[in-house]
Amino acid sequence: MTVAETNQHYDLDPEIFGRFLDPLRKYSSALYLDDGDSLAEAQEHKLRFVAGRLGLDGGERLLDVGCGWGALILFMAREYGCASLGVSPAARQHDYIAGRSAELGVGDLVSTRVGHFEDLDLPERSFDAVTMLGSIVHMPDLDAVFGKARAVLRRKGTLYVSESCFRSAAAHAAFDRRAGTGFVREEIFGWGDMRPLSELVAAAEGAGFTIVAVDDLTDHYRRTIDDWLANVDAAAAELDALGPGLAGRLRHYLEIANAGWGYTTKHYALTCRNSR
Ligand SMILES: C[S@@+](CC[C@H](N)C(=O)[O-])C[C@H]1O[C@@H](n2cnc3c(N)ncnc32)[C@H](O)[C@@H]1O
Repeated sequence: MTVAETNQHYDLDPEIFGRFLDPLRKYSSALYLDDGDSLAEAQEHKLRFVAGRLGLDGGERLLDVGCGWGALILFMAREYGCASLGVSPAARQHDYIAGRSAELGVGDLVSTRVGHFEDLDLPERSFDAVTMLGSIVHMPDLDAVFGKARAVLRRKGTLYVSESCFRSAAAHAAFDRRAGTGFVREEIFGWGDMRPLSELVAAAEGAGFTIVAVDDLTDHYRRTIDDWLANVDAAAAELDALGPGLAGRLRHYLEIANAGWGYTTKHYALTCRNSR
């Protein structure tokens, strides 16, 4: 598989993701503030946490790189009045977002572009904030990605990245070729590389960013995936009707992901400022 084929997974029928994600179809870690939080509540908490890390007051120009089914851009448009642009190479996600933004009455604030972030022509210094939730794992050239994120941000603008990482360079080397890692990378996504946090930090600093916060969200992602697994089980018959064997494949991938947290893998949020 190649990087270009990454979207074999994200270009599946959006209804599949509606069966096991929360109602916003946010496909990344939630943030649980209370033991009793539902997945839907925890995903909203997470979006407000991202808004806080970005320092949103309302009305900012926001770029979401790897926008999925629009959870973040639709939320920031509705709740904070942000002019929100989402980019992703998966064409079916854009059709879904266009429908949702019209239903929610935020079509004037929300727009999307189909393509790989690395290849898109975007005006320099034109955004107050850039977000990447679970997307940088699909981008091979970290220096190019952080460099481009900085170029499109205004001075003092903020980049928020949350990503799954190997716990260390040694864990990356030891586990990258294991069968479970290979199944998730090749059979589910097509391409992905979970780097250690140190590589993300080095690329951010190399691009000229100042790191202003690092948050460990590992336990939150474990619980998010537990909730997704429960949803996969509850909707197994519907998922298998949408794709034969789909429920079993999703379960296998989510179980592999949850087995590694804290031992081989971590999930971090990195907030970076374009200070100068
Ligand atoms: C795990 S999903 C996360 C979606 C979304 N950020 C969320 O939290 O719901 C990863 C997203 O990254 C997108 N993606 C993959 N490679 C990309 C690239 N080179 N440029 C932009 N987006 C990319 C995928 O299409 C997908 O929408």
